[in-house]
Amino acid sequence: MKILTIYYSKSGHTEELAKKIHEALGGDMASITAKKTYAVSYGMTVLQAGFDKLRSRRPDIEEIPYHLDDYDILILGAPTWYFTMAPAMQVFLDTHDFRGKKVYTFSTDGGQPKNTLSDFRKKLEEKGARVAGQFHVSYKKNNRLTGDEEIERWIEGLKEDAVR
Ligand SMILES: Cc1cc2nc3c(=O)[nH]c(=O)nc-3n(C[C@H](O)[C@H](O)[C@H](O)COP(=O)(O)O)c2cc1C
Repeated sequence: MKILTIYYSKSGHTEELAKKIHEALGGDMASITAKKTYAVSYGMTVLQAGFDKLRSRRPDIEEIPYHLDDYDILILGAPTWYFTMAPAMQVFLDTHDFRGKKVYTFSTDGGQPKNTLSDFRKKLEEKGARVAGQFHVSYKKNNRLTGDEEIERWIEGLKEDAVR
């Protein structure tokens, strides 16, 4: 079973979780890069992303250096932006083929993930994937609210399920 973990992260929370998953499961890992430059500060990014959302604008993204065709299992992670997946991940999902893939998704948020995981599932299923598991981790500013044990338990379950 070949596994590829792919994530988008603006400020590092989702990246941290992606790295934990990758360390436990092995395989390859890639990050999605938006071609748009977002502000460094959280508040300015929220404003920028809010304007983009109002205008239905989404960023172009760089191509990742892996072919999804080479993998059996994909593990996709993104932060919640405006109650759904960050636009860079939406663009990734829209521009790749997921037919026949077994996919797990994870996200990080500021306590209000709302539609993030259901939108992830919906889009992936529309594109022919089977979503085998989902997980989210909440933060309050930079303090993680979801405990280490809960995260480790999910990753352990993912490991058992994925390699089955
Ligand atoms: C533009 C923007 C919109 C956000 N919208 C939400 C939201 O709707 N709900 C929520 O719980 N957190 C929201 N957040 C907080 C992020 O989901 C949270 O900080 C996440 O862990 C950031 O992940 P990252 O460090 O991988 O970029 C938003 C953050 C940004 C920058």
